[in-house]
Amino acid sequence: MSLLFSPYNIKSLTLRNRIVVSPMCQYSAEDGFANDWHLVHLGSRAVGGAALIIQEASAVSPEGRISAGDLGIWKDEHLEMLQKINSFIHQHGAIAGIQLAHAGRKASSTPPWEGGRQITSGPNSWQTVAPSAIPFHEGDAAPLALTLEGIQKVSSDFKAAATRALSAGYKVIEIHAAHGYLIHQFLSPLSNTRTDEYGGSFDNRIRLLMEIIDGVQQVWPTENPLLVRISATDWAEGGWTADEAVKLASMLVDKGVALIDCSSGGLAAHQQIPLSPGYQVQFAERIKKETGMPTGAVGLITGAQQAEEILQKGQADLIFVARELLRDPYFPLHAAFELDEEVQWPQQYERAKPRKKVKH
Ligand code: FNR
Repeated sequence: MSLLFSPYNIKSLTLRNRIVVSPMCQYSAEDGFANDWHLVHLGSRAVGGAALIIQEASAVSPEGRISAGDLGIWKDEHLEMLQKINSFIHQHGAIAGIQLAHAGRKASSTPPWEGGRQITSGPNSWQTVAPSAIPFHEGDAAPLALTLEGIQKVSSDFKAAATRALSAGYKVIEIHAAHGYLIHQFLSPLSNTRTDEYGGSFDNRIRLLMEIIDGVQQVWPTENPLLVRISATDWAEGGWTADEAVKLASMLVDKGVALIDCSSGGLAAHQQIPLSPGYQVQFAERIKKETGMPTGAVGLITGAQQAEEILQKGQADLIFVARELLRDPYFPLHAAFELDEEVQWPQQYERAKPRKKVKH
């Protein structure tokens, strides 16, 4: 049997295979509310056979949205539609997870199809916050440096969002500490020049993430997985490094984090990323081998054989797929066929299931 289609146990859950829908913003919400687009988008990936579906970066506060179209989970009114989506996902054998996020200085932007750049006026703009008053792009309006009370509010917003996530029926939380958003802005010396207990040393830069984890763990059941997505490097001189990512990972093992989802970049506008198939797998492998932390590999993983090889080599435990699952929501069903695996198709689609020719 392939590893890609072997079940995977994580805390109290059993995933039906190793394919995870990587979180992907749809920029299609209003005031944080999910709608039919999210139901169809996430629901299709459940029908398509993925094991775990991590809902896009979902803001823990209105100012934590990347754009006015981001999903949110900062008020109870958001939960009704999210419950409906999660119940559909669970009916179709997948598991629903949510990525909790705060965009920090990268907030108040337009969606990618309108350029994805900061906006500073009009109803879809707001004052951004960050560890230090350093904008992401040169020439952008500077964010406000968070006060200590502001930092505490961020932590309590994550905790309140985790409580709501539980009520909404999510089984997995992923904390978004990657891609240059608020938590990553604290981790990296390029965006964090604070001189208080949240800046400077490694222990100070990771403090916000550690406090957020502590807060979430107070309300999130220990049997439910808590994942953390990190950027394992900034790909920029003077930034967050893979060595620091490994050190952080070993501390997250002790905290009971179930898995690190190993991405990279997004913090520095001048980053130099050497893109190639599976270019971030090296980070999942290093963290897994050096700390024992289970890892997810992500980034330019587009084929069944490629994914299987990563697992066979012990480089990662789960495969996170983003764009290939936009091109093909049925990627897991197609991958199973390619790897000669028998998986259940939705009964409504059974008549279309391809059969391997019987060899004589
Ligand atoms: C993303 N990505 C992303 N990452 C994240 O952590 N939270 C998010 O909400 C989003 N949003 C998002 C939207 C869209 C449309 C895309 C294409 C990507 C990044 C994504 O999860 C993944 O890490 C990268 O796309 C690399 O994986 P692939 O696409 O090469 O499989």
